[in-house]
Amino acid sequence: MSEGIDFDEEWVAEMERIYRTASMAERRRRIRNALALDPGEHVLSIGTGPGFESRGLAEDVGETGRVHGIDTAEPMLTVARERCAGQPQATFEQGDAADLPLEDGAFDVATAVQVYEYVPDLDAAFGELYRALRPGGRAVVFDSDWSTMTFHAADEARSERIISAFDTHCPHPRLARTLKPRLERANFEVTEQDVYVHFETELNEDAVAAAMIPPIREFVTEQGGIDEAEAEAWVKDLHERAEEGEFFFNFNQYLFVAEKPAEGA
Ligand SMILES: C[S@@+](CC[C@H](N)C(=O)[O-])C[C@H]1O[C@@H](n2cnc3c(N)ncnc32)[C@H](O)[C@@H]1O
Repeated sequence: MSEGIDFDEEWVAEMERIYRTASMAERRRRIRNALALDPGEHVLSIGTGPGFESRGLAEDVGETGRVHGIDTAEPMLTVARERCAGQPQATFEQGDAADLPLEDGAFDVATAVQVYEYVPDLDAAFGELYRALRPGGRAVVFDSDWSTMTFHAADEARSERIISAFDTHCPHPRLARTLKPRLERANFEVTEQDVYVHFETELNEDAVAAAMIPPIREFVTEQGGIDEAEAEAWVKDLHERAEEGEFFFNFNQYLFVAEKPAEGA
């Protein structure tokens, strides 16, 4: 049985490749727009990852503000600290989304971008998100529906086997479908929703698909029950589609803005 992703040094390197792509830069721009941070605000970045997210948020709040990044994975925090070395307003701490090492109501804003799909106990995690925000505070929560991930392949059945084997990389591969009611059950008011579509018709080094294919291949052969020959044939198929001008990749992720009611509201 799959144990899911271990966010170790190897995955940090894979994620840095993914996060450098154009589609991920655009994803960060959309999330920053939804957060609409003001200078001086205190922001909690849950599952902060390798620091691309926290660096952008630290620019938005400026030196009078604060960005506090929490992550379970020490290798992520190490590169996040390096990436934000010139931003004293960015601080980092090891911690779990389901048991935040923080005081009640300490933050104006929180964000968790593609994190909750990896957290087993979601009720605890949404309770912690609510607790960490001040009354009237807001959160941007962003997660995937991995069933939307599509590659055009000559052998569609093989491609579908690989994609469904990758489902086991996290405990909640369809989380986006139930995020809104889960947030509402945790007493948030959901005020905005949006979809972010990764859509590419070329396989080049700036493409998120090109950066995702190697870790998908590695995961499905190590933990998803796919043998090396089948995975290799799948990768070859995708590259041939690209050479024939037939490359197609689609993957949807979903964004929700949630507000914690003000006191007395
Ligand atoms: C896909 S990455 C997203 C990184 C970052 N939010 C971004 O979008 O740039 C998921 C991150 O969540 C972290 N993570 C996974 N489970 C977690 C948990 N229970 N609590 C806190 N962080 C967690 C991982 O270590 C990883 O850094």
